[in-house]
Amino acid sequence: MADDRPIGVFDSGVGGLTVVRAIVDLLPSEAILYVGDSARFPYGPKPVEEIRRYALEIAAYLVRRGVKLLVVACNSIEVSAIGDIAQAHGVPVIGVINPGVRAALRATRNGVIGVIGTQATIATGAYQRAVGSEAELHTAACPAFVEHVERGDTTSEELRRAAATYLAPLKAAGVDTLILGCTHYPLLSGLLQLEMGPGVVLVSSAEETAKDVYATLLREGLARDEDAGPPVHEFRCTGDPGRFQALASRFLGPEIGDLHVRRVEV
Ligand code: DGL
Repeated sequence: MADDRPIGVFDSGVGGLTVVRAIVDLLPSEAILYVGDSARFPYGPKPVEEIRRYALEIAAYLVRRGVKLLVVACNSIEVSAIGDIAQAHGVPVIGVINPGVRAALRATRNGVIGVIGTQATIATGAYQRAVGSEAELHTAACPAFVEHVERGDTTSEELRRAAATYLAPLKAAGVDTLILGCTHYPLLSGLLQLEMGPGVVLVSSAEETAKDVYATLLREGLARDEDAGPPVHEFRCTGDPGRFQALASRFLGPEIGDLHVRRVEV
């Protein structure tokens, strides 16, 4: 039976839109209800307890709005709260860490993988647990990146200098594959590729996560009817909607159409 309900996707800001982009590319019939907690970003430097509280509020809002599936499009939320989110609500919950690790294990040739993420993500050791003994993993927190992306800066000199500092130990360790362990980072992939060099494969979890969404919709009988007409996407943020809309339009591209971002209290 076809299920018209939207897929709920959330993040601290615009980073989760990289996952939305991949879902829309793979599943053009599905409607998305997105929440970016732009009033309270960045999450990465915050204590896990605080991230957990915010994440549970947003998940509860999305479930009240009738989503059929929750996509935690934020590594910092996933390491802090994905178990609690899954327990609190009766809808399937999909994260980004296992999909990213899966893609990296497929891509690596020398078995030496790097992962970059926020302080929260790196400090919890979630990627080490996900990779286990299948590869040698080197990690680096990149605290400045998210604020640059949220300002719309993906190329500045200051950002390039920060990247050079953060990535130096990973280059020295000989990683041949780099997991972008924060959903904001694919927006920096030009700069990151330049810094790492052409031989290093950059892995964004977005495409692989979209495949998990597809598989889950099929398995649970939750897919929307392909003949039901174009889906209506909704974008919500907790901060300034004008600012969010300008960034979101730039990152999502014109195919998504007019975003009509509205502010929401969660
Ligand atoms: N995009 C988020 C992630 O994947 C976090 C960004 C933030 O620090 O707010 O971790």
